[in-house]
Amino acid sequence: MKFAVIGGTGLIGSQVVKNLNAARHEAVPHSQSTGVDVISGQGLDEAVAGADVVVNLTNSPTFDDASLAFFQTSMDHLLAAAHKGGVGHFVILSIVGVDQVPELDYYRAKVLQENILAAGPIPYSIVRATQFMDFMEAVLSWTADGDTIRLPATPIQPIASKDVADAVAEVASGVPLAGIRNIAGPEIFSLDDLGRLTLSRKGDNRTVVTDPTAGMFAVVKGDALTDKDAQLAPTRYTDWLA
Ligand SMILES: NC(=O)c1ccc[n+]([C@@H]2O[C@H](COP(=O)([O-])OP(=O)(O)OC[C@H]3O[C@@H](n4cnc5c(N)ncnc54)[C@H](OP(=O)(O)O)[C@@H]3O)[C@@H](O)[C@H]2O)c1
Repeated sequence: MKFAVIGGTGLIGSQVVKNLNAARHEAVPHSQSTGVDVISGQGLDEAVAGADVVVNLTNSPTFDDASLAFFQTSMDHLLAAAHKGGVGHFVILSIVGVDQVPELDYYRAKVLQENILAAGPIPYSIVRATQFMDFMEAVLSWTADGDTIRLPATPIQPIASKDVADAVAEVASGVPLAGIRNIAGPEIFSLDDLGRLTLSRKGDNRTVVTDPTAGMFAVVKGDALTDKDAQLAPTRYTDWLA
């Protein structure tokens, strides 16, 4: 099958392209660096022409309310180009529990992206993943101050990007789900403990202070970002760190 992987040079996109090509499909990566822009629409018709499946793994450059316009415009352009090109399956990557955290602009933007896809003219699949393990470094940097890092005890179920890419490639190669597949890492941590574990394994002497008001995940209620019933990925966090 032929795949146009939009955002195919990013963390997940590059691994999805590799997986699909290793499985003897024909997957082509597209992004701004290859001359395709989902916001201006430049190069999109050519990028999706002849593709059986479009996998959209682009990401907004910011997590603030500008991300709503990013996902609205990019999905409008991509769906129009894919519809014109006769694409039979459109796949996006969203976030487990995304509809339960309307306090976050970025999460509302991802819900908007899902809704635009579901209302559109193309058979579709939505893969929702938990937070990528790679994302921990950014999470730690947001609230670092000298020797301390403040983190809430929000339950988190981190997943390796390789496992996300495997699941996205599998879903993209199958029949459209007309719905959502949830995928998650094999273990649930509280975010503050995950921070402590990360620092200790890296030999970093800073201290994590539990602070229910700190950082982006402070607004998450209960265990909204975890899913015990999700398809569980194999990679454990400490193995990934090692
Ligand atoms: N972080 C998490 O924990 C998490 C969890 C679940 C789901 N997700 C979702 O996973 C998806 C992929 O994330 P990622 O970390 O792999 O992203 P990433 O590494 O930041 O890659 C983003 C890709 O989008 C491309 N891109 C950005 N703006 C573009 C534009 N205007 N036109 C064309 N291409 C553009 C980039 O290419 P250029 O650099 O060439 O522009 C790059 O290939 C996102 O939609 C995100 O919401 C993330």
